[in-house]
Amino acid sequence: MRDGYSRRQLVKDLPQAVAIVEEEMRQWPENHPVSVYPSVQRMVVDQLGTLMSGTSPKEHVDDILTFIHALEMVYMARLYPRFMAHTPKVRRARRRVEALFERVLAAHEPALHEGESNLSDILMGMRRSAPDFITDKNLFVDSVGPFLAGSDTSSSATSFMLYSLLKHPDVLERVREEADRLFADGTPTAADINNMPVTMPVTHRAGQETLRLHPIVPVMVRTVANSFEFAGYWIPAGTSVWVAMAVSHHLPELYPDPERFDIDRFLPERREYGQLGAYAPFGFGPHSCLGQGAAQVQMALITATILHRVEIVLDPPDYRMKLDSIPVPTPNRSFKIRLTRWRQKGE
Ligand code: HEM
Repeated sequence: MRDGYSRRQLVKDLPQAVAIVEEEMRQWPENHPVSVYPSVQRMVVDQLGTLMSGTSPKEHVDDILTFIHALEMVYMARLYPRFMAHTPKVRRARRRVEALFERVLAAHEPALHEGESNLSDILMGMRRSAPDFITDKNLFVDSVGPFLAGSDTSSSATSFMLYSLLKHPDVLERVREEADRLFADGTPTAADINNMPVTMPVTHRAGQETLRLHPIVPVMVRTVANSFEFAGYWIPAGTSVWVAMAVSHHLPELYPDPERFDIDRFLPERREYGQLGAYAPFGFGPHSCLGQGAAQVQMALITATILHRVEIVLDPPDYRMKLDSIPVPTPNRSFKIRLTRWRQKGE
């Protein structure tokens, strides 16, 4: 599924990806506070659904989020009892997500488009060639995979990036200059987005530093296959272990003044993140994040589109981020911005 989740899926239709952001921004009333996270979440889910499954999930975004939240809390985080996955609200949301899935299936029959395949094409190709390997139930679960894996993560990371920039106006202005260059000829090109460290170095470093300071997935959960000893402790096979890989993001011996947002840590001459085990926002090993390229494109593209098109301020100006921590750290709804004006062409 690597190709279905890759950055290519977003980069192949940048005008569409940008249009989704602009459409959501048009809902922001001028000079009124807007809660950032839910708005960014609608952008992220619409981009992932439209570009990875080929069907806009626009009218179903709330249902998708209700359904995914129940799955995460009951089956992944195991913080809610099982019946919470079957309340009338969740059952209604699930039925609507299933209806969306039927539309995705219909849009992909009968032919696979050679060379242009998105995640749904790939899944359905696998279903045809190996029906025992991928059952109808798997096909449904895997088809909602981008929402499951992407809706909280990419949205939180992009919201944290906006917050960090609003708190550091000097960096924000440098990111805006890059955004203006990116949009100088209309829409960003694939070459620009595929080469961000060169074409948008400040934006790229701001994204990396955001992921260091605000790790979205703080632990990886694993079951021990072979017993081993670690730091004087015997860990028997079958034990459930949490690998808290994000702890190192905040260690002063790796990152001097670790709570400071400092994008220059990611300059080649500093490379603080390059020390052994210092930086793992997307996990590590064979199950590291399949969507990491796509997520970084979303963070940069959504931020660049917003800063290029509008002026925004924090509301209130001295706001300090509050977190909701379950199942992953997400910005609280109290994180709000105010659109002060639309920028004119050529500004
Ligand atoms: C900034 C945003 C994101 C972060 C920080 C993030 C982080 C992670 C981490 C740490 C893992 C490994 C979990 C583990 O090993 O237990 C993971 C797995 C995964 N992520 Fe992401 N993710 C992000 C966005 C996305 C997006 C947008 C998608 C898809 C559209 C995605 C798809 C996946 C998938 C499919 C896996 C499972 C890979 C496997 O098990 O082989 N992620 N992600």
